[in-house]
Amino acid sequence: MANIDFGGVVEEVITSEEFSLDKAKEVLKDETVVVLGYGVQGPGQSLNMRDNGINVIVGQREGGRSWERAVEDGFVPGKTLFPLEEAAQKGTVIQFLLSDAGQVATWPLIKSCLREGDALYFSHGFSIVYKDQTGIEPPENIDVVLVAPKGSGLTVRRNFLDGSGINSSFAVFQDFTGKAKERTLALGIAIGSGYLFPTTFEKEVHSDLTGERGVLVGCLLGVMEAQYNLLRKHGHSPSEAFNETVEELTQSLIRLVAENGMDWMLSNISTTAQRGALDWGPKFRDTVAPLFDELYKSVVAGQETKRVLETNSAPDYREKLQKELDVIQNSEMWKAGAAVRSLRPERR
Ligand SMILES: NC(=O)c1ccc[n+]([C@@H]2O[C@H](COP(=O)([O-])OP(=O)(O)OC[C@H]3O[C@@H](n4cnc5c(N)ncnc54)[C@H](OP(=O)(O)O)[C@@H]3O)[C@@H](O)[C@H]2O)c1
Repeated sequence: MANIDFGGVVEEVITSEEFSLDKAKEVLKDETVVVLGYGVQGPGQSLNMRDNGINVIVGQREGGRSWERAVEDGFVPGKTLFPLEEAAQKGTVIQFLLSDAGQVATWPLIKSCLREGDALYFSHGFSIVYKDQTGIEPPENIDVVLVAPKGSGLTVRRNFLDGSGINSSFAVFQDFTGKAKERTLALGIAIGSGYLFPTTFEKEVHSDLTGERGVLVGCLLGVMEAQYNLLRKHGHSPSEAFNETVEELTQSLIRLVAENGMDWMLSNISTTAQRGALDWGPKFRDTVAPLFDELYKSVVAGQETKRVLETNSAPDYREKLQKELDVIQNSEMWKAGAAVRSLRPERR
């Protein structure tokens, strides 16, 4: 563990310096790691582990695009790729990387495959923390652990391939073998985490659901639309409205934030922009604060998970979802965005 000072609060983190890949391989040398689900996280985590020399097989229901993708990625049916139940029976570490609704649907089957001493691994606290809704209550004679990459499965793979790594949080919910933490850290390093920071299942799911509904996606989508609509209402052209709302952010400012932080970005913009941002930042913060309160309460009360399970388990879920996504994709704003992006010199 390394002690890192996060703005005055010291926290422990684990990097590959404290826990090397060689150590991870040693810890996992007698394990068969089964990745159940080949959706978004499944490919990233399983391919990274395979490249890192871990004994990994994939479990995926047959007949769909995900099965085909696993085959295209070099998993061999009958050898390293199996239907869910068969795969789960072969594993000593079971990585439950189906969609959260898929985990609920398949739990009785997967539970019946678990043997004493196995490790059940999640990348989200959802199923365990909201067990009253999911019905997922693991038996007592297994380890239950979590490694949650803080980014898309696509980034898990891309960062691994470009030699960096994604940050992940980790937690142990149940330590039956006495080795749960060591197994968790080994898996965290094996899937390509840049560093690992400790959490609990509860903290992970509360912060994750808040983050994605808030700044990371929901809030961002909402404020972008609000500003674009405002500019359009006042007669600005689509290209101007989109450039001032999204393109300048993604092509310039957020890159500076990624490099050195908002504090640094603020000191490297025009004094005019600076004055405005310093005046308006607190107004936006105080205006949205009550909405964030409402969001966090809804998360903790289980209303968000209830809604996810209800909508995502419906038989016509994909069609309904597609309709909602189509509305956004077909809107003037995001069509204008496609046109703006096509004009980037590297895409012309
Ligand atoms: N998405 C991310 O980047 C991300 C980031 C951090 C953590 N996580 C967590 O990682 C876990 C996996 O998420 P994900 O986004 O990778 O999932 P996903 O892409 O939504 O997962 C889809 C996978 O689940 C299977 N599946 C869904 N319903 C099923 C059912 N009823 N029976 C059998 N298989 C079913 C799908 O098979 P088919 O293709 O055949 O439908 C596919 O393999 C979740 O706990 C999630 O919260 C995800």
